[in-house]
Amino acid sequence: MNENKKNSKNIVLTGMPGVGKTSVGKYLSRIRKDKVLIDTDKEIEKNTGLKIVDIFAKKGEMYFRDLEENEVKKLSNEVNLIITTGGGTILRETNINNLKKNGVIFYLKADIAVLLNRMEFDKSRPLLNDVSKEEKLQSLLASRQQLYEKADFVIDTNNKSVKKIAEEILKLYEQ
Ligand code: S3P
Repeated sequence: MNENKKNSKNIVLTGMPGVGKTSVGKYLSRIRKDKVLIDTDKEIEKNTGLKIVDIFAKKGEMYFRDLEENEVKKLSNEVNLIITTGGGTILRETNINNLKKNGVIFYLKADIAVLLNRMEFDKSRPLLNDVSKEEKLQSLLASRQQLYEKADFVIDTNNKSVKKIAEEILKLYEQ
C-alpha cells in the first residue's frame, strides 16, 4: 500500500466496557497530532442531546444500536481519525466491515477482574447498572469474544500502563 494512504488510516479501538479505550485514545491522540480523536458514544450524545444511559432507558438498546451504526458508517468514510467505539459496536458485522474500510481495528483485551477494577465506581454504563457487574461482564464477554477477535490486532492490556498499550498500538500501526 502507498505509504501516505497507509499512514492516513483510522486507528480504531474496540473492547469491553472499562478496558480503557478512552484513556488509550486520548494518549494516542497526544502522540499522533495528525489525527483527530472521535468517540462514537460522545458523538451520539452530542447529536441527540441525550446521555447514553438515557437513550437506553427512554428508547431502548435497539434504538441506540441504530444510532451507533449510523455514526460508524459516517466516520468510516473519513481518514486520519482515532475512533474509540462503544463496547458493543462490534455486535453488528456491518460496523466491523465499515470500520475496516479506512481503518485498522485494535481489540483491547483484559481479564474480567481487571475490567472490574478499572470501572469500580462507574455508573455511566447502562448495561452494567443494577446487576452483578462480574456476571454481566462474563456473559457479555462470552457472547462477544469471537466478534472482538475479528479486529486486525489483539492487544493484551492486563497489567500494562496506558502508555505501554498506546506504544504497542502505534508500533503495529506504523509497521
Ligand atoms: C456498551 C458500551 C458503552 C456504550 C453503551 C453500550 C456495550 O461504551 O456504548 O453503554 O454494549 O458494551 P463503553 O464500552 O465505552 O462503556
